[in-house]
Amino acid sequence: MESLKYALVLVLPAAYLAHWYLSTAPAPSAPSEPAPAADDKEPAKSVMSAPRDDLAPPKDDPFTQAELAAFDGSDPSKPIYVSIKGTVFDVTHKAEVYGPGKSYSIFAGKDGSRGLGLSSLNVEDAVPDYSPLDAKHRNVLDDWYAFFLKRYNIMGRVTDLPEIQPAPADESE
Ligand code: HEM
Repeated sequence: MESLKYALVLVLPAAYLAHWYLSTAPAPSAPSEPAPAADDKEPAKSVMSAPRDDLAPPKDDPFTQAELAAFDGSDPSKPIYVSIKGTVFDVTHKAEVYGPGKSYSIFAGKDGSRGLGLSSLNVEDAVPDYSPLDAKHRNVLDDWYAFFLKRYNIMGRVTDLPEIQPAPADESE
């Protein structure tokens, strides 16, 4: 009995922590309906926004990192952009998570690929150079990239990103 209780205590937070994974796995049943109201015990899956089928054709506008910084949500008259692996996405319609002071504002107006790959919300990890990431974390980053591709319009590319080094050989396992 005790162990069952502990299992539940461990599994629920783990389900939340795995949301980036769950949301990008090719889910057999896409979460297309909103999470049920008044049931905040409903874990993962339904918390992530559904893919969109009304995305505009991708744009190819060039942005320097300095130019991108203007789209961090601090000016409400401007859209909010997030870059992943140099591709700039318009996340304005999710200002409730990317806007100033919101949960994921550290990714706004910049390329924070390293932090996404590391599943880190530390601001010092929200940098474009993901060279230190091993293959596993690069996969997490690619999952986020795929997630954004299905949900946000592409506005262009960051032109002055550091060169990414290949993943370090994994000799640890
Ligand atoms: C206990 C830890 C966490 C919980 C409970 C949690 C919960 C959530 C929830 C509820 C959403 C959906 C928000 C919405 O659509 O309104 C979300 C989205 C998101 N999470 Fe987390 N999260 C956690 C940790 C993390 C970490 C460590 C990262 C670091 C990469 C992260 C990155 C994101 C991102 C980028 C989105 C936005 C996806 C989108 O654009 O729709 N989360 N998270």
